[in-house]
Amino acid sequence: MTERASNRASTRASIRPSTIADRFAPTLVAWQRTHGRHALPWQQTESGRDSGRDPARNPARNPYRVWVAEIMLQQTQVAAVIPFYRRFLDRFPDVTALADASLDDVMRCWSGLGYYSRARNLHAAARHVAYRYGGVFPDDPGALESLPGVGRSTAAAIAVFGFGRRAAILDGNVKRVLARVFAIEGVPASAATTRRMWSLAEALLPSHDVGHYIQGLMDFGATVCTPRNPACGLCPFHRDCIANREGRVAELPHRARRKILPERRVAMLLITRGNDVLLERRPPTGIWGGLWSLPEAVRADDPGELRSRIERFGDVMSLASEPGFTHGFTHFVLQADVVHARLRETSPGVQPTHLASPPEPMRWVDRADAVELGLPAPIRTLLRSRL
Ligand code: ADE
Repeated sequence: MTERASNRASTRASIRPSTIADRFAPTLVAWQRTHGRHALPWQQTESGRDSGRDPARNPARNPYRVWVAEIMLQQTQVAAVIPFYRRFLDRFPDVTALADASLDDVMRCWSGLGYYSRARNLHAAARHVAYRYGGVFPDDPGALESLPGVGRSTAAAIAVFGFGRRAAILDGNVKRVLARVFAIEGVPASAATTRRMWSLAEALLPSHDVGHYIQGLMDFGATVCTPRNPACGLCPFHRDCIANREGRVAELPHRARRKILPERRVAMLLITRGNDVLLERRPPTGIWGGLWSLPEAVRADDPGELRSRIERFGDVMSLASEPGFTHGFTHFVLQADVVHARLRETSPGVQPTHLASPPEPMRWVDRADAVELGLPAPIRTLLRSRL
């Protein structure tokens, strides 16, 4: 560029009014440095001491730890994740330890955190990294996205925090922030709105301070620009935010119409024999896949039929309905009735055969040991209260 051309360019730049989009990243980075979260257990990289992208040269970066955290944080809030994260890393300190563990051990460690397909995918992905990639995580968002359970946004977060790469994220928090600050109409879950938001997220990504920026987006969405009662008085975009200026904060992002979820009703069989309870491992896919649970009958409508099925496991001393529970899943509401069958302790040692069709493995477990297994949270609560 000639000197004159360069003068002209810099004059133009200096008089061009900055836009919300120009101010967005620097404002968020400044906000994150003073108001963001800096002491979360998976935040290994100390600001100012970051020695680059290469995890080998920068021991503060640990892609394995970052990956585990990002998977746990996919559907669970930070405060709930922290104790699980600590326990998980104590038990599986690196990707090889996780790959070598049995799925049962992994499910047990995940038990109570919910969304169990995350644990199954984590285990499968650990085996992939350990056995196919020699234990080394890929640092490229595209390659990370090919791991089970890792979508585009999670891949980007791992690449940013684990490797210092530059990549945009777009999770539920970010969608809410963008929808409000830039007044994006449309339901965020729709494909068209998601596409627009990805373009905007990419366009806003700064060239420096990407780690602080991405952490800032997450922290700001979780602590200031919250779904309900956002703290607009504390918001650094107070003046810029179109939703705030137009009094539309409560309206944006647009919500999808709420569907009434169907109800699924089952009878859970609490079959006890002295100190033991009969548990059944659930099939590997579907709800609570791979976890230990109570055997189920479709409905306890026919007590005679139910009794004859239970009698296969021993002499029934009593059979009684007990209070059940309701548990919400994404696509349906589970309404569980509980039938408690007490079997005679000295019943001939009838081995659990199979109640379910197709047959699933069952086992008698001492009640004290039962709650240590990988159980769905409502089943653990039920066993704690009944046994
Ligand atoms: N949500 C998803 N990833 C997160 C992270 N690394 N820190 C805080 N909240 C998050």
